[in-house]
Amino acid sequence: MKSYIWTLPTRVFHWSLAIGFTTAYILGDFDKFENLHFAFGAFVGTLILFRIVFGIFGPRYSNFKDFPIAPEHQKGFIRSYFSRAKNHVGHNPAAAVVMLLILLIGLICSISGYLLYATENNILGFAIQEDLLEEVHEVLANIFLVLVGAHLLGVLADTLFHRKTGTLQSIFTGYKNIEARNVKLNAFHKYFVLLWVIVPIYLFFLAYNLPINDNKTTKQSSEHYEDNDD
Ligand code: HEM
Ligand code: HEM
Repeated sequence: MKSYIWTLPTRVFHWSLAIGFTTAYILGDFDKFENLHFAFGAFVGTLILFRIVFGIFGPRYSNFKDFPIAPEHQKGFIRSYFSRAKNHVGHNPAAAVVMLLILLIGLICSISGYLLYATENNILGFAIQEDLLEEVHEVLANIFLVLVGAHLLGVLADTLFHRKTGTLQSIFTGYKNIEARNVKLNAFHKYFVLLWVIVPIYLFFLAYNLPINDNKTTKQSSEHYEDNDD
């Protein structure tokens, strides 16, 4: 018996987030691709913002109401992990916590990146300590990476120990081998999804075209000369 659990918007969001995060993370280390880093970083932040709204108004299983994060769910999940007394249709309790943390940390990481850009380029009306902000942004990006690692381990464990459920295939096809109510999008969801496609792409291009202040370039090049003097 197959049931439809993840609609197309959830699956497209998932793979866009995976590609967006991986690219933003890698490009963060290359000055040459700074604007592309801003673009992918802003894309990730906007995707997540829309996913959070979808979590509040979205369909069954993708709605945060269906995320079993309460301690009693966690205890039951750990106790019955190998006996598999209960099938979780959407995210299992541990996965639900990791998913929420990915959304939270990803959003704050993206905002801290914009604040860092704004501070470096003197476009904020107030001063934030640049070194501290840089540190915060880097730590958040690394916490995000650790969460992705935990997520992939969870998917691997599920694939090894609960192969029949078909969790891994579900993020490609939308279907799990479970008997449950199929998910359905209503008219509001469909209009919302249109914006979910347009706005992150728009933000991608806005961030790609963010101007980089001359003062910053001067700071970078003087750092470069200092490096060469060593
Ligand atoms: C940077 C990489 C990745 C990130 C940030 C990420 C993040 C996420 C998030 C946020 C969700 C929840 C989706 C939602 O409720 O809207 C999810 C679900 C899922 N992801 Fe990923 N993911 C990544 C890579 C991958 C990869 C490479 C795979 C497969 C090998 C994968 C397999 C899955 C599966 C199977 C689910 C559904 C889990 C369930 O049914 O509980 N993910 N992922
Ligand atoms: C979730 C999305 C993002 C991730 C995962 C991410 C990740 C990273 C990483 C790994 C670094 C390198 C840190 C280091 O080694 O020092 C970095 C640096 C940086 N990021 Fe992001 N970032 C994201 C979003 C953004 C956004 C939206 C902006 C601005 C619009 C931004 C602006 C910056 C800046 C200005 C730097 C410092 C570059 C430098 O001066 O060397 N980031 N980011």
